[in-house]
Amino acid sequence: MFQSLKPLPPDAIIGIMGLFREDDDPYKVDLSVGVYQDEGGNTPVLECVRQAEQQVLSEQKTKSYVGIAGNASFNESVEKILFGADHPARKTGRISSVQTPGGSGGLSVAGHMIIRAQRDAQVWLSDPSWPNHLPLLRLAGLRLQQYPYYDYKNHGIDFDAMIDTFNKLGVGDLVLLHGCCHNPCGADLSRDQWDRLADLFESRGIVPFLDFAYQGLAEGLEEDAYGVRLMAERLDEVIVVTSCSKNFGLYRERVGMTSVISKDVKQAKVAQSNLGNVARGIYSMPPDHGAAIVSRVLNDNELSAIWIEELAQMRERLNDLRHLIVDKLNERGAPRDFSFIASERGMFSFLGISQEQAIRLREEFHVYTLESGRINVAGINQSNVDYVADAIVAIL
Ligand SMILES: Cc1ncc(COP(=O)(O)O)c(C=O)c1O
Repeated sequence: MFQSLKPLPPDAIIGIMGLFREDDDPYKVDLSVGVYQDEGGNTPVLECVRQAEQQVLSEQKTKSYVGIAGNASFNESVEKILFGADHPARKTGRISSVQTPGGSGGLSVAGHMIIRAQRDAQVWLSDPSWPNHLPLLRLAGLRLQQYPYYDYKNHGIDFDAMIDTFNKLGVGDLVLLHGCCHNPCGADLSRDQWDRLADLFESRGIVPFLDFAYQGLAEGLEEDAYGVRLMAERLDEVIVVTSCSKNFGLYRERVGMTSVISKDVKQAKVAQSNLGNVARGIYSMPPDHGAAIVSRVLNDNELSAIWIEELAQMRERLNDLRHLIVDKLNERGAPRDFSFIASERGMFSFLGISQEQAIRLREEFHVYTLESGRINVAGINQSNVDYVADAIVAIL
């Protein structure tokens, strides 16, 4: 049977990670990985997580299953972080949530939920978007389309082109927007643009599908949630998928959540039972450990304070590095304006270089980016920033 399968090319990112591992140059720099790195190049276990984990393990009494919707305290605490404790959609019981295996599991649940509600639904993805959106949502059976988003020439969002596309959509169309820290381009919607999209979606019956994998890593927990909270307040139906991989550093523990906002409380109960049923059909029960840690952190004042501080450190480091690399490129008289990097947010930005230039960076200077020129800003640090800036200027 399996003889009918065709071999697949290796994943581009994993291929580059392999090349980096094999490179024994002492000056090599990895700007390709998709995880946060600290000044020492490590992806640390947060202190709040370490402490919460010890408490969870010492108090755990069973390894029996958690429920289909996962850890109820996790769902409630994350909803409060996401929407704010007093959000009108929470107060009126319009939100239904299930804990999921990471944001990826959450996107899968969302995809299956959409197709169950509407067989011919189309989801519009930004061009470009996180490459995994495609297989995750396609496997759920959704039809996928692309809307223009990033203008590679001007290093910003092509908002007019977005609006032109959305003006042609209507009931039955879903638009996937990144809540903040757009992956892979780092260019986020302004508040004014979110406001305009809420008006447009409301008038055309478009359903927002919000992927919120980086809350707290752009401007702050509250600030980053502007678009998600606005859409959940203004529109009858919204889907939000969140992840604790980045903001809690819990990547391998697989912690995320899918929330559906329904028109009213009656519909929300129907959505809740369907979310559970969809999850049951994919993986049955979510894993316990990571969600138990997050729940512990968010329900303990001391641990929450440590988390807020650690999250701020990660965010400030990313934003400082963005300014630092721009300054270093300017000092070297780079023949281009790179200031867009400083105004983008999150871990990723496009350098705006060609595939050939990205290959030169890798082969001549041992600086690893994706071949699209996408970098992970967190791979820069005080000891490699001069070398990275020299290398970029050399290949321009
Ligand atoms: C835009 C976006 N959405 C979702 C995810 C899913 O993250 P995870 O499944 O690791 O929680 C990621 C991870 O890189 C992402 O960048």
